[in-house]
Amino acid sequence: MRITISEQRKYKVKNTKQAKSLVDEYLRHKKIDIGGFEFGLPEVHDRYHNWNVPIMKAKEVIGVISVNAYSGEINKELSTDSSFLEKRANKVIKEIKKTSNKKFEYIISNLNNTIVQGRAENVLDKLPEQSIDMIFTSPPYYNARKEYSEYETYEDYLDTMREIIRQCKRVLINGKFFIMNSSHVLVPRASRNESSTRIPVPFDLHQIFMEEGFEFIDDIIWQKPEGAGWASGRGRRFSADRNPLQYKAVPVTEYVMVYRKKPAPLIDNFIRKNPNPDIITKSKIEDDYERTNVWYISPARDKRHPAIFPNELAEKVIKYYSFVNDVILDPFGGIGTTAKSAATLGRRFYSIELNENYVKETLRDLNKKQNLLNNNYQYEFLDLSDELERPIKKSIRHVLSDIKKSGVDDQKIIDTLMGLNQHNDK
Ligand SMILES: C[S@@+](CC[C@H](N)C(=O)[O-])C[C@H]1O[C@@H](n2cnc3c(N)ncnc32)[C@H](O)[C@@H]1O
Repeated sequence: MRITISEQRKYKVKNTKQAKSLVDEYLRHKKIDIGGFEFGLPEVHDRYHNWNVPIMKAKEVIGVISVNAYSGEINKELSTDSSFLEKRANKVIKEIKKTSNKKFEYIISNLNNTIVQGRAENVLDKLPEQSIDMIFTSPPYYNARKEYSEYETYEDYLDTMREIIRQCKRVLINGKFFIMNSSHVLVPRASRNESSTRIPVPFDLHQIFMEEGFEFIDDIIWQKPEGAGWASGRGRRFSADRNPLQYKAVPVTEYVMVYRKKPAPLIDNFIRKNPNPDIITKSKIEDDYERTNVWYISPARDKRHPAIFPNELAEKVIKYYSFVNDVILDPFGGIGTTAKSAATLGRRFYSIELNENYVKETLRDLNKKQNLLNNNYQYEFLDLSDELERPIKKSIRHVLSDIKKSGVDDQKIIDTLMGLNQHNDK
């Protein structure tokens, strides 16, 4: 017969059931006011020989009560203080009331299919709050070489991306999805004596998404065939010399990062409360969907644009994160891959692109597609190109970085800001 550790050690409290019952008795006897509660799974702590019993309120752990495994007595030093338990229980109840009082409102956008020639920062400003159901985009490439870049510095680039992500958040419906495709940027070596470096753009963008109030949902890896990576030149040196430390992996992946706008109502609301149940049936996804977060898709090539993503990628994202008739926004539209895929899948589209030629190509393709699909969709073209001027908006991070670069140390900045704050309080 198997002897349990509790039996070997001759514990008085031999199992989770006994531990829970002792804690239950203690909480009731002490009249600790936390209303209805549940237990989490008790665990034995080997060092102190005690049972830690988690106390849960509405599925959240609000504290732990510790029971001496030898004596069965409550170990107060290792337990959450009763006043703390009460405070946390009240907080959880308040939160529940707050969310259940907020009635879920099903928003149906009245935006029509639109192609805009303009700068995303300016165009987004004109869109109504919560008018977009899903965003899929791939941001402009950051070129580390100043002469090719419209951005002064990488910080400048990130500030622009932050501004656009912030505006996208405003126009996106609460709880809906923003999917961003990006990859690290390879900065080629400037001379034979230097090595190339990489800028982890997706990770910096991720930081911005978190700071701007999005919930992180998934990191999907878009994997391309191996041949696609060798063109970057990375890994060639190692392949020839085979010296340790020179190893560099050939990049064959890009990130497809998935975020959800907070506050985020339960997904179930978007399904059960849709006023048109027919749309839910029409939007169901077929059996051959992607099971894992690694998607094998060949890259797309088009001589009209150097950095398009494949239709297959756009179509998967649109199918998995939107319903038929939803409005799909791409703030960096390029030659309209997102818009065209949205049209194919019976979604509405809103595509913004600053380059006139790319917009022309998008319009040309959409017209062709209209005939091909015999699809009776209409679209509007908005020319906002007179607003192509780049707005200069510096973020606090950027300003701080400039001050630091000029040699002022952190403490001095903190002291000055604290001083200003005290001044304002007076
Ligand atoms: C990576 S490409 C997107 C390509 C697109 N996914 C496609 O398949 O055609 C990024 C696009 O953003 C455009 N762009 C750059 N800055 C922009 C801005 N501030 N507003 C609007 N478009 C911008 C560029 O001209 C470029 O076409």
